[in-house]
Amino acid sequence: MRADDQVHGLTATAFTSVSMNPPLVLVCIQNDSRSEALLRKGRCFAVNFLSEDQAELSERFAGRIPAADRFAGLAYRAAVTGAPILEDALAYLDCTVAGAYWGGDHTIYLGLVEDAGVLREGSPLLYFQGAYRRLALNGGGAL
Ligand SMILES: Cc1cc2nc3c(=O)[nH]c(=O)nc-3n(C[C@H](O)[C@H](O)[C@H](O)COP(=O)(O)O)c2cc1C
Repeated sequence: MRADDQVHGLTATAFTSVSMNPPLVLVCIQNDSRSEALLRKGRCFAVNFLSEDQAELSERFAGRIPAADRFAGLAYRAAVTGAPILEDALAYLDCTVAGAYWGGDHTIYLGLVEDAGVLREGSPLLYFQGAYRRLALNGGGAL
């Protein structure tokens, strides 16, 4: 997200698509986080989809690897809304905030997708039962 000259981001799994027309997605953001304050102010965010070899980046954006500026040393550019797009992400969605709703200790941010792109081939980084996982396409039969 971006608010004025401040660029910030967090690791989030509480993300889902909502609507095709208009294109809407949602993300749930912890109320006492810096990200929530910046989202409320800046009203835009980009979703950067990480690849299976980017677990360390996820840890950095989750605050588990301390970094005063989470984007320091990373190649990124400003999207249409001004939100940061990581050059090494698999794909991105660039959103303006279309609504913010009560979600307990999180706020549910509805995003209107203004721009989207696929940046490279690769498998997504998954998080399940407290660990990062690889997508196992041959890992099981059909239900
Ligand atoms: C795998 C993983 C998924 C996470 N998902 C979310 C999420 O969906 N929403 C959220 O608010 N925080 C989530 N977090 C926690 C934030 O990334 C973490 O609290 C971060 O430091 C918040 O940054 P901020 O306080 O600078 O905004 C997740 C952390 C991890 C490791």
